[in-house]
Amino acid sequence: MEKKWWKEAVAYQIYPKSFYDSNGDGIGDLRGIIEKLDYLVDLGINIIWISPFFKSPMVDNGYDISDYYAVDPIFGSNADLEELIEAASQRGIKLLFDLVVNHCSDQHEWFQKAIADPNSKERDYFVIRKADQLTNWRSIFGGSVWTKLPGSEDEYYMHVFAKEQPDLNWENPELRQEIYKMINYWLDKGIGGFRVDAIVYLKKNQAFPDFPSDGPDGLASVNLGSQNQAGIGEFLTELKAATFQNYDCVTVGEAFGVPLAQLPEYSGENGYFSMIFDFSYDVPDGTNGEPWYVRKPWTVKEWQQKVYQSQKILKEFGIWSPNHMENHDSARVVNRFFEADQINFASTTMIGALDFFLRGTPFIYQGQELGMKNATIKDPNVFDDIQTKDQYQVALAANFSTSEALKAVLHRSRDNARTPMQWQDEIYAGFSSAQPWLPVNDDYREYNVATERNDANSILNFYRRMIEIRQKSAYREILIYGDFRPVYLDLDNIVAYDRHLAGKTVRVICNFQNQAIELQKYRQNEKYQLILSNDAYSTNQEQLLQLNPYQVILVEVTEQ
Ligand code: GLC
Ligand code: CA
Repeated sequence: MEKKWWKEAVAYQIYPKSFYDSNGDGIGDLRGIIEKLDYLVDLGINIIWISPFFKSPMVDNGYDISDYYAVDPIFGSNADLEELIEAASQRGIKLLFDLVVNHCSDQHEWFQKAIADPNSKERDYFVIRKADQLTNWRSIFGGSVWTKLPGSEDEYYMHVFAKEQPDLNWENPELRQEIYKMINYWLDKGIGGFRVDAIVYLKKNQAFPDFPSDGPDGLASVNLGSQNQAGIGEFLTELKAATFQNYDCVTVGEAFGVPLAQLPEYSGENGYFSMIFDFSYDVPDGTNGEPWYVRKPWTVKEWQQKVYQSQKILKEFGIWSPNHMENHDSARVVNRFFEADQINFASTTMIGALDFFLRGTPFIYQGQELGMKNATIKDPNVFDDIQTKDQYQVALAANFSTSEALKAVLHRSRDNARTPMQWQDEIYAGFSSAQPWLPVNDDYREYNVATERNDANSILNFYRRMIEIRQKSAYREILIYGDFRPVYLDLDNIVAYDRHLAGKTVRVICNFQNQAIELQKYRQNEKYQLILSNDAYSTNQEQLLQLNPYQVILVEVTEQ
């Protein structure tokens, strides 16, 4: 396994609108990130992925870009961005931008030129078809992927996401060159790389077939005709060669739906990207083709199999994974995995550690290190997220009462991860001096950076210790480059694995249940040296593995 700086890093995702507001308008901004960089240094972060901050009408909070070269005024100026790049680099932090090139905003000048003049070169920068050539594909945010092209009688443009996010036509070579130019412009500024948005959608099935409907709306998922289609590799190979390949940068693809067998094409030394996110074990009660509001019962065992499978495949292919439990599109991890009465210090740190010590580069999402929970929004009109609004309507259409629909939406909404970062036990959680764009969670007085930083037993300080152990302790090499080997496979609610390197073994054991367990009888010939625990653990009971509910321990294992 080749050593790389980004394999040895701990990454942190910032959603700029919700991180820190420096100028009192209720919206987070780039100067806010500069002001809080030292917090991230103290935490031990080496890579920051920032969700989009370029000019945008904010229909999808910046994932609808209208100018790839200019910072949106709500986030600051290009001078602020240059200062941020410099301030981060002085602190040894690499910045990853969010590269959104499957689509742009309908306000981008390309789209404006395309609708203004049917003969413009920009007309072919978009996926445009005649009324009688349309397909029955459903966009990710609901409704058809086809919307009538403004000013045209019988032409429609395609959008995998919202209608304000027209897809770019990657079949057009000039468009591709424009994109490469923009990517190199930012890489030349010395950034560390990119998180690459929605990249599996670049290639559309050029036959544009209809598919059997999979929903009451008579439409079929756009994934069938646009996700990871044959031929996408040519675009991605060219993209890499024209840009990333020529820099010491890291790229992390958001690549849903890539079959396991194709992982090495997408990821690794010879792959299109350095790494791609694995979403296969994100949600324990994942829906599988059913409507989004269906919640399936799940067991720790089933879920753990998915984690082990993922780690096994990565190892077989020799590729590296960006491990994550949260991002700006997901509900908070504690709410996904535990019922409200089971969310506490132990369960929160256990699920955090379980993910953190897997083989790969850990990605922490802002507020996760504080134990931030789902939004406490009580009025459906307060939701901001375009997808949540659609989901709420879908739930009502499926005969949910308003309170049932609110409950369903609160469980899955992307706004759960977008509430303001909790900095202090002060009005608006110290995020802003003005009312924030999305309400602060009710629990900010207890869960915030200032309070937790002063409490030796806080979630924040647990995360700091985990990072310190992985980055700075004698176990660094094992925890970064060591092998992954599952253990205790015969037990139902134990998730445990060894990291192993050069004859040394470190084991993570998670008691994934609300009940104590006694483990010594399973591993009689081993001796344990405690490295980290989220609960009392007596070191003079070295052979006794008694774990409290949701206890996690990290131990060095030696044979007796
Ligand atoms: C990605 C982003 C998501 C966005 C979508 C469209 O999935 O993570 O937030 O809505 O792409 O750009
Ligand atoms: Ca602001």
